[in-house]
Amino acid sequence: MTSLDATNAGQLQHLLREYRERTPGSETAFRRALRVLPGGETRAVTTYPPYPVAIARGRGSRLIDVDGHEYLDLVNNYTSLIHGNAYPPVSAAVTAVLEDGLVFPSPHDRQLELAELLVGRVPSVERVRFTNSGTEASVLAARIAQRATGRSQLLMFDGGYHGSAPPLLAKDPAVIAVPYNDIDAVQVALTGEVAAVFAEPFLGAGGVVPAAPGFLHEVQELARSRGALFVLDEVQALRNGIGGEQGRLSLTPDLTILGKIIGGGLPIGAVGGRADLLLLTASTTRGHLMHSGTFNGHLAAAAAGAVTLHHLDATDIERLDRAGGFLAERIIQAATRAGLPMSVTRAGSILNVHFTSSAPTNAADVRAAAGPLLPALHLALLLQGVYTTPRGMISLSTVTSDEEVEAAAVAYENAFNRLNAR
Ligand SMILES: Cc1ncc(COP(=O)(O)O)c(C=O)c1O
Repeated sequence: MTSLDATNAGQLQHLLREYRERTPGSETAFRRALRVLPGGETRAVTTYPPYPVAIARGRGSRLIDVDGHEYLDLVNNYTSLIHGNAYPPVSAAVTAVLEDGLVFPSPHDRQLELAELLVGRVPSVERVRFTNSGTEASVLAARIAQRATGRSQLLMFDGGYHGSAPPLLAKDPAVIAVPYNDIDAVQVALTGEVAAVFAEPFLGAGGVVPAAPGFLHEVQELARSRGALFVLDEVQALRNGIGGEQGRLSLTPDLTILGKIIGGGLPIGAVGGRADLLLLTASTTRGHLMHSGTFNGHLAAAAAGAVTLHHLDATDIERLDRAGGFLAERIIQAATRAGLPMSVTRAGSILNVHFTSSAPTNAADVRAAAGPLLPALHLALLLQGVYTTPRGMISLSTVTSDEEVEAAAVAYENAFNRLNAR
């Protein structure tokens, strides 16, 4: 154990004690949850010891917990709330749907509007099929790829996340997982059995690890040259460009997986892509790939998603990117002043802190840098009213003000000083 680890273990105990004293209502909520939800939660990545803050409500960039504490929201429901909490245009759109009827077993203008917006914004998306989550969209994309190619294997990246259902889990027998940013490993693994390569434009849940310049182009070309599809998962990344990261990087995936912001905060997912591939799911196609779902294209999600995208233009995206860059720099400076090793990986307005001085380039690097400092930092920020994720990821929204970004930077500085106090 280094002296820093030892210092930190002591600090963690102090932080936990303070946290418990400050959040009795959250502890009560957790005890109640334990009686009906396994582990007291229903969403694995969102929980942390000793128990998570129980949020009562959110508005704009602010959250209020059950004890009445206010937090600056730097999570935005894991990147899905691009315009923050209870965004008035989204609330108005959903209210209108509540009055007109929530969902019908028929096509509807609201679904079409969202589909047309996606086709208009993302050039590789010629047709769209809606699901209820990014997970479901990934499953559908895998089925389309397997049907289109007659092959069964799927290649993905270690630390890649395409949802929590098979086959797109690194341990699934149909999957080969190789390190991100390692084109030689892709070369070797991409045999004639592989139906598709699934990639995120940056490892999102895996630590916000950016793709090395040219890496995704090489993956796309290799996939094509070996008769496999190139599937880009833009569930998190779409927020970084009008046409997603693929627009910024001039990629032309065969299929794109979408979710999060396209539902404006309501449950949604979608597969978009080449018309010939999407047509495999059309019930008018002979021997089609059966795909249905009671809530596919739910009108509340479609309406919320459409208004969310209408309100996200290139100027908003540039501002988010600048704010993300500013915050990343300030966090690194603060950690350096406190004598802590730190790198901040970033994809536009999504950031991840890592307690290592060299930026991770794949998931193994991220795992190696994870230690007790991350949970301690998380608690030290919560105690200052700054809501972040246990894994060190934060994401900004269009309603996070410059003053709030500055306040967040100060909170990180205070937290680092506290972690390093001797
Ligand atoms: C890149 C990526 N793909 C897919 C998913 C799964 O989406 P959902 O949580 O809507 O099932 C996520 C969720 O975090 C994600 O980040």
